Amino acid sequence: MKHILIFLLVFLHIQLAAKTDKYRLTLRDNPAHSIVIGWNQVSGDNPVVFYDTVDHGSSEDGYANMAVPNRSVEFAEMDNRFVRLNDLTPNTSYYFIITDSDSKSKRYWFKTAPDGPDARYSFIAGGDSRNNPEPRRNANLLVSKLKPHAVLFGGDMTVRGSAKQWEAWLDDWQLTISEDGRMYPLIPARGNHEKNNEMVYHLFDVPSEEIYYAITIGDDLIRAYTLNTEISIAGEQSAWLKNDLESHSNTRWKIAQYHKPIRPHVSTKPEKNTQYAEWAQLFYEQKVRLVVECDAHTVKTTWPVKPSTGKESDEGFMRVQQDGTVYVGEGCWGAPLRESDDPKSWTRDHGMFNQFKWIFIDNEKIEVRTVKVDNAPDVASVPNDDPFSIPANIDIWEPENGAVVTIIAD
Ligand SMILES: [Fe+2]
Repeated sequence: MKHILIFLLVFLHIQLAAKTDKYRLTLRDNPAHSIVIGWNQVSGDNPVVFYDTVDHGSSEDGYANMAVPNRSVEFAEMDNRFVRLNDLTPNTSYYFIITDSDSKSKRYWFKTAPDGPDARYSFIAGGDSRNNPEPRRNANLLVSKLKPHAVLFGGDMTVRGSAKQWEAWLDDWQLTISEDGRMYPLIPARGNHEKNNEMVYHLFDVPSEEIYYAITIGDDLIRAYTLNTEISIAGEQSAWLKNDLESHSNTRWKIAQYHKPIRPHVSTKPEKNTQYAEWAQLFYEQKVRLVVECDAHTVKTTWPVKPSTGKESDEGFMRVQQDGTVYVGEGCWGAPLRESDDPKSWTRDHGMFNQFKWIFIDNEKIEVRTVKVDNAPDVASVPNDDPFSIPANIDIWEPENGAVVTIIAD
């Protein structure tokens, strides 16, 4: 009798346990029209995503559309499945469940980005989440409350990229899901703690196996570049960057993210002179107005700068009034903090605390705020239809030169 009871309890537990987990949304293309739904298939066969612009809860019969994985890859001891959805309607809520022969997920949802000339976008940008679970989880929790159109993540997710560490990272990522099941897409870059490109390609299904790519957001309002500082900078990568920038001269805003800063604000970190030579002038000439850097685990914003070796320059850049590139960073999503002991004449403000950047972009301007993440549990949520409101208790950094870095269109 006792054995039967134990068997029944174990059986019941298996039935109740999720057969899919570690859910993540990523982007291969314009988030106004597409998204990638990724997860770990724990057990069961024939997974299907049922989705619709109408919420049918957990009843798969109601959903108007279904999709099966476009890609399956065993990696980091997980069975990673990716469904790539295209031809979606902008600024629209999509509800979905994942079913298989064993189980049915909770109902999740996402909202496609808006498009059109009056659209405005919210992004969170940061990186370096290795080591310390508490700030990592706080930053993740704040994603669920600030509800951005996308999260730009600049690498160094884990310490060594072991299966155990990636599983823990993806479990922690579930904290970015809002209480009502809403999810937000990632745009990941590779850091030096990702030992190979496969870690990013196989876990996030990004559109480039070399982990450098660009995503248009809205109607040519934004082109967001993700670059890879862990492979050759010169050669193919920079040639691609130059060509892509030149062929998108009509895009209103160009922004970039990558892991290692050209001029880190921590003195023990090396200057990245190849990146300076290959990218800084290109950013300036091609009007890349905002660059997010990571890796040093400190806090900085700069004034708009251009490459220069003249009398007024400092480490190869000088401050300009117009048309410059603003560099922000440098990755404090849970990695050990370092003092910003290497500021430049063109540094706007710098500090040392757990943080990410909160970025609003529309046709007129870019606004960048630095959000301290330690009080995340006390912060209110923004409404689903207004990600630009400032929620109660949010701890926005207010340094000497002001809380908001504003970049005005030419
Ligand atoms: Fe790093």
